[in-house]
Amino acid sequence: MAHQLTNKEQLLLEDLKQHEMVCIKKYQDYANQVHDPQLKDLLNNYAQQEQNHLNSINEMLSGQIPSIGQGQQNQQNQQGQQSQQQQLLSKAAEQSWSAANQNDAMLLNDLLMTEKYVSSAYDTAIFEFTNPQMRQALNHIQKEEQQHGEGIFSYMSAHGMYNPQ
Ligand SMILES: [Fe+2]
Repeated sequence: MAHQLTNKEQLLLEDLKQHEMVCIKKYQDYANQVHDPQLKDLLNNYAQQEQNHLNSINEMLSGQIPSIGQGQQNQQNQQGQQSQQQQLLSKAAEQSWSAANQNDAMLLNDLLMTEKYVSSAYDTAIFEFTNPQMRQALNHIQKEEQQHGEGIFSYMSAHGMYNPQ
């Protein structure tokens, strides 16, 4: 059963769609630019998750509730992501600061800024939705944006690129 979107929902989803397309492009481009192969894997993994987000937004734009199977898939991704983050942390000590690292750091700072912005865009959108399941779906995506932020933050901390005081 298709859900009839309000004008506001439609406009918000169009914005989120643009955001997701930018995220996919950035993660793919930056994965090609970074020097650390493990970081490359992490960014490619996130690019795939952003693609899943885009698919969910497109489903909502057509009035569909995003499929339940997606949630299970995302949970698996999260588990893989966590072990990936642990590997990144354990490898970190072996690596030293370099010009290559500095370039990676700049790209990661940009991704972190992007995720902060996108997470905030989802937070605003959620408050305008009439359908509880669509709110759930948006909340799920927002949570994954925050997990991307956490993954980037952890990598940067472990590699001396980010020093929270
Ligand atoms: Fe996303």
